[in-house]
Amino acid sequence: MKEEYKIKLIKKEVLGPTCAVLTFTCPEIAEEAQPGQFVNLSCDYFLKRPFGIMCVDKIEKTFSVGVRKVGKGTEKIIEAKEGDEFTVLGPLGNGFPFDGVKKLLLVGGGTGIFPIFCAAKYAQENGIPCRIVNGYRSKNDAFLFDKFEAVCDNFEVTTDAGDLGMKGNVMTYLETIDDSELSDTTVMVVGPGIMMRKVSEWAQAKGLTCYVSLEQRMACGIGACLVCVCKIKAEQEGKEFVHKRCCKDGPVFRAEEVIW
Ligand SMILES: Cc1cc2nc3c(=O)[nH]c(=O)nc-3n(C[C@H](O)[C@H](O)[C@H](O)COP(=O)(O)OP(=O)(O)OC[C@H]3O[C@@H](n4cnc5c(N)ncnc54)[C@H](O)[C@@H]3O)c2cc1C
Ligand code: FES
Repeated sequence: MKEEYKIKLIKKEVLGPTCAVLTFTCPEIAEEAQPGQFVNLSCDYFLKRPFGIMCVDKIEKTFSVGVRKVGKGTEKIIEAKEGDEFTVLGPLGNGFPFDGVKKLLLVGGGTGIFPIFCAAKYAQENGIPCRIVNGYRSKNDAFLFDKFEAVCDNFEVTTDAGDLGMKGNVMTYLETIDDSELSDTTVMVVGPGIMMRKVSEWAQAKGLTCYVSLEQRMACGIGACLVCVCKIKAEQEGKEFVHKRCCKDGPVFRAEEVIW
């Protein structure tokens, strides 16, 4: 059974009217967390809510999450003040597998940019060459631009509105990459379902290993309630698919195994 920790919000960085990065003191999570894992955070409104870990600081013993307000739970979290106390369960789930990764292409969209930042920081700290492509709606949504530029060799941005970076979505950019630049590249994607599916299809067509981080609605976060099941191909078991728990068996899965 995962232990629950009492934690304190020590820093709130407001990114816009609906978004903030929250930093909490929690030595256990700072020590253990791997890129792609998430935490289940209390919110004063029924169940805890899941958030991808955006970064950890092992010296300061903190972890951060980026939160976008979409409903009551995230509203309560965004409204919290520095010094407020929370409870948290984590780190949860299976993160991105980095063993054998030689070159990384990270693709983020929506709130997926927050866990993508964690993967980028890990790559930088471990000397893995990394290119990041983030898709935003417009310039006003392009949070953490400077931070992303600082953690990778090549940071590319697309906006639907065309007011920053390349006009279009992440696929518009990916399709411009020459095949010769893609050898030995592993792709990791976090974002809206449709974006992850399109990027996975592109990666598969190029013969690249690709991982996605699925976002299902969750309750317990630890594999007990089955609220978060997703369909994963299971040809080796003689079945079209099996149900897997996104929180415990994922949230990261190999892209070609996912039934979208
Ligand atoms: C593994 C994982 C990692 C996540 N990481 C982040 C993150 O880093 N930053 C962030 O801001 N959010 C993240 N989310 C989404 C976040 O958990 C939800 O936005 C939050 O739980 C919504 O709670 P609420 O009470 O504000 O909204 P609710 O009132 O519960 O829902 C409001 C709206 O959001 C939709 N929604 C709720 N939960 C989800 C979900 N899990 N996936 C997709 N849509 C949802 C609902 O369908 C509804 O339309 C993550 C979710 C998962 C499963
Ligand atoms: S949220 Fe309960 S099993 Fe995944």
